[in-house]
Amino acid sequence: MNARILAVLAALPVLLPAVLPAQSPGQGASVQTPFRPPVGFEQEPVPPPIPADVTDDRRVARNYPEQPPVIPHNIRDYQLTLNNNQCLTCHSRQYTAGSQAPMISITHYVDRDGQTLGGVTPRRYFCLQCHVPQTVAQPPIRNDFRDVDSLISRPSDGGDRR
Ligand code: HEC
Ligand code: HEC
Repeated sequence: MNARILAVLAALPVLLPAVLPAQSPGQGASVQTPFRPPVGFEQEPVPPPIPADVTDDRRVARNYPEQPPVIPHNIRDYQLTLNNNQCLTCHSRQYTAGSQAPMISITHYVDRDGQTLGGVTPRRYFCLQCHVPQTVAQPPIRNDFRDVDSLISRPSDGGDRR
């Protein structure tokens, strides 16, 4: 072990109290964050129920054109493994007539070299990497995202708009 590391180790007892918060677990009751109820770290509150999935089959508008659309239906027990992709039994080109599901778009057939393949490209095989269902959970922090259209149509505030 070289001398510099030894020097740092020797200084640790002096440095640590300076960087660690001086709060003990017992004082946790005063901690206020949006992510946990106002209880001490040593208490074990009853967890809230898991929120239900939104499964109303209504396609959700995208916030920007490149967004992977969210899934508006139930996906429980749909297998997605190396040998079986149940999403594709409705969403691939050859099955959409029967399922009336929207077809995966052309980007799902293009491999990383820009070649358009006959089937879904490996990099788009595991759908849930990008597409997710939604739940009725309320976000702990309000989201004030506004898409570009509402920003452009905002009434002029007379300020400098670049
Ligand atoms: C039984 C057929 C079926 C299966 C299986 C299925 N879907 Fe769907 N999917 C649909 C239909 C039909 C829609 C159109 C909206 C609706 O009716 O729910 C849809 C809509 C979607 C959308 C929204 C598309 C958009 O433009 O808004 C996404 C994303 C999606 N599905 C992803 C998936 C994924 C990922 C899986 C596998 C985990 C899957 N689906 C399995 C039939 C299916
Ligand atoms: C790497 C991320 C990624 C993966 C993996 C992926 N998608 Fe997508 N998907 C997207 C993006 C981004 C869009 C929107 C832009 C586009 O069409 O490329 C999209 C669009 C879609 C749409 C709407 C198409 C349309 O024309 O409206 C459907 C349906 C869909 N995906 C289903 C699937 C299914 C089913 C799978 C699994 C086989 C899958 N996706 C895998 C990123 C992904």
